[in-house]
Amino acid sequence: MAVKEILTVPNPILKQVSKPVDGVDEDVRNLMDDMLDSMYAADGIGLAAVQIGVPKRVIVMDLDWGKEDGKRNPRYFVNPVLSDPSENTLPYEEGCLSVPSYFDEVERPDRIQIDYLDYDGKPRTEIAEGMFAVCIQHEMDHLEGVLFIDHLSRLKRQRAVQKVKKFVKQREQDDAA
Ligand code: NI
Repeated sequence: MAVKEILTVPNPILKQVSKPVDGVDEDVRNLMDDMLDSMYAADGIGLAAVQIGVPKRVIVMDLDWGKEDGKRNPRYFVNPVLSDPSENTLPYEEGCLSVPSYFDEVERPDRIQIDYLDYDGKPRTEIAEGMFAVCIQHEMDHLEGVLFIDHLSRLKRQRAVQKVKKFVKQREQDDAA
């Protein structure tokens, strides 16, 4: 297990479309372990493999992270497929470890089906609602090379990237000090 560097915008790797994996083997499990470590280290609740520079269709998530009781509830989604989105949509203020320091509202279906392989390679089907629905759609976007700021106006997107560049530069300076 290892904490990897999380890529930030405008790194072009984040625009890559991720490829499916052949199945859940030792390599994929190691990747998921590293992703989870990296996500926790960065205080995030979701991470796609491409965000640590591995364009494979793998997502990790922990919607309970940061809650007071400190319990962990890691979830793993390999080769996930979304279907049957609800007509009803909800706006939600999103953030992203690849777009640090910037938050904005995105509107998405509030209910959606997800089919995937779990940590043991077992096929699963779930209905995602609420925060889970928001998060899984956000992470699925990453697999298509899409960031939440791509759902915003061009002006907002440009502002976000400028803000992130400044933030990352400052973070590097702080880390070096
Ligand atoms: Ni993200």
